[in-house]
Amino acid sequence: MVDRIPIIAAGGIVSGKQLASALCVCDGVSIGTRYWASTESLGNAKLQQELIKNNSCDDIVRTTVFDTIQNELSANKWPYPYSSVGALRNETTSKWDGRPEDLQLAINNTKLLDEYKLSQKASDTTVLPTLSGEGIGEINSIEGAYDITLRIEKEAEDTIKRIQQIIS
Ligand SMILES: Cc1cc2nc3c(=O)[nH]c(=O)nc-3n(C[C@H](O)[C@H](O)[C@H](O)COP(=O)(O)O)c2cc1C
Repeated sequence: MVDRIPIIAAGGIVSGKQLASALCVCDGVSIGTRYWASTESLGNAKLQQELIKNNSCDDIVRTTVFDTIQNELSANKWPYPYSSVGALRNETTSKWDGRPEDLQLAINNTKLLDEYKLSQKASDTTVLPTLSGEGIGEINSIEGAYDITLRIEKEAEDTIKRIQQIIS
């Protein structure tokens, strides 16, 4: 029973080792990317397949590029400082990341938005954001959320038991 505001850790938690480590300093965890690669996820199936390829955290970039483009297409715009996402690097990030002025010029003066909309229809992963956190290197399959949860719990229990044995 926690008699204060609970602290929840988030970011990069995909296995029980990370859960056990996080529980040293917090009361619980929030898990995003691991459940995005689950059978229950409502995400785009093509993007999901990108997520489980042989990626590492070096393939992730924190970028404002996708929000800059998608804010132009949406009535519900993400404002600064929430206007960035972690995503797998692709043609869009290699072309535009770090070039916000050039991207805005391209949005205003070229067919970039029309082409982006076509990419959305085609679920083109070379253009669209595959959202991902830093734990991507340990995510290699789409599994049921129940199985993912049980495995992470079991791994955390085993890790904590092993630590108890080491220090007792
Ligand atoms: C598919 C997906 C959608 C997300 N959407 C949002 C969002 O709308 N707003 C937000 O603040 N974070 C969003 N995030 C980031 C989550 O807050 C992040 O995943 C969470 O901190 C857990 O980190 P983890 O993905 O490394 O487990 C999203 C992440 C994923 C994978």
